Amino acid sequence: MQKLTAVAPVIDMRSDTVTKPTPAMIDRMTSAELGDDGRGDDPTVKELERVSATLLRKEAALFLPSGTMSNHVAVLSHSSFRGEVIGEASSHIFRSEMGGLSLLAGLYPRPLAGRSGAMDVDELAAWLRPPSLTSHALGTAVVCMETTHSVGGTVLSLDHMRDVCTKSWEAGVPVHLDGARLFNAAIALGVSASAIAAFADSATFCLSKALSAPVGSVLAGSRVFIERARGFRKMFGGNLRQAGLLAACGLVALEESIERLADDHVIARRLADGLHRIDPRLVSPPDVATNMVVVNVGWSAAGAEQWTRALSDYAVLTAPVSRDKLRLVVHRHVNVSSIERVLIVFAEIYLKRPATLFAR
Ligand SMILES: Cc1ncc(COP(=O)(O)O)c(C=O)c1O
Repeated sequence: MQKLTAVAPVIDMRSDTVTKPTPAMIDRMTSAELGDDGRGDDPTVKELERVSATLLRKEAALFLPSGTMSNHVAVLSHSSFRGEVIGEASSHIFRSEMGGLSLLAGLYPRPLAGRSGAMDVDELAAWLRPPSLTSHALGTAVVCMETTHSVGGTVLSLDHMRDVCTKSWEAGVPVHLDGARLFNAAIALGVSASAIAAFADSATFCLSKALSAPVGSVLAGSRVFIERARGFRKMFGGNLRQAGLLAACGLVALEESIERLADDHVIARRLADGLHRIDPRLVSPPDVATNMVVVNVGWSAAGAEQWTRALSDYAVLTAPVSRDKLRLVVHRHVNVSSIERVLIVFAEIYLKRPATLFAR
């Protein structure tokens, strides 16, 4: 069979982080007013922080180089190097941040079992302790939630978030929200980003994922919290200087990219429906809540790594998320015709009968 690679451009669905800046972003960079943000002098960064705080209805916000640094700075600002961090076991902060929680922030991870990124609230209640250290137990420094979930793009319900917050706040424990894809969650729930961020003392979102900015995350919270965060950002080496170049892209991202995320969700659902038609075992369409489609290949003789390699032979790039699941992420550079090609590629691989094609 002729490889589609010869004729077709690569469809990169590994993540929405692969999005390139828009022409309007490049344009805004060239006219951005700049200063030394390490000294609080960059007007464009200040404007991004002001707009972000307003969007999330928090007192203040801070621009950081990445979502990972933003999470580390947030948990440290809540805890000052001591205590446990409770969250759902598969959340990014436990799974994908290289142990920074312990190695950099000095905190002890307390991952709880959950479903689709939502922790078990009874488990949470069982593990919550007042933040201060007692003679026999490490206190809970902070509780973390994540929406959308980085593995499957699922969204926490507001009821779940309310339950988590109520229990945490009753115990005197602050809550941090990793909202790397907060605006996807807001669109999926049909509410504002601030309605979600209301269930957290601090919230972070990424500009560099489906919003298409090249770099950057924002952390929002109370004025006192953000002042502490500013210090920890410096400690991590995250003070940027003429960062207005990047903040300019972030401002454009907030102005022009949020609304179009709904299109990504529609395309992801269309992909899920198409894959389900090829074989219902591949995808459960109702599980697709935002811009991610998790494909289950556990029923085939091949693992996710082998499927990923087979798809890349056809110029379709995907990422394994476990031994038998791979993730396809829809973003600005993936349109309806890309999805049609992805479906043709899956059908082609499927027709070759993976049990023989991928015999172990
Ligand atoms: C939920 C979540 N949090 C944090 C991050 C980290 O963001 P960054 O890659 O900017 O460090 C990611 C990255 O994909 C993410 O999905």
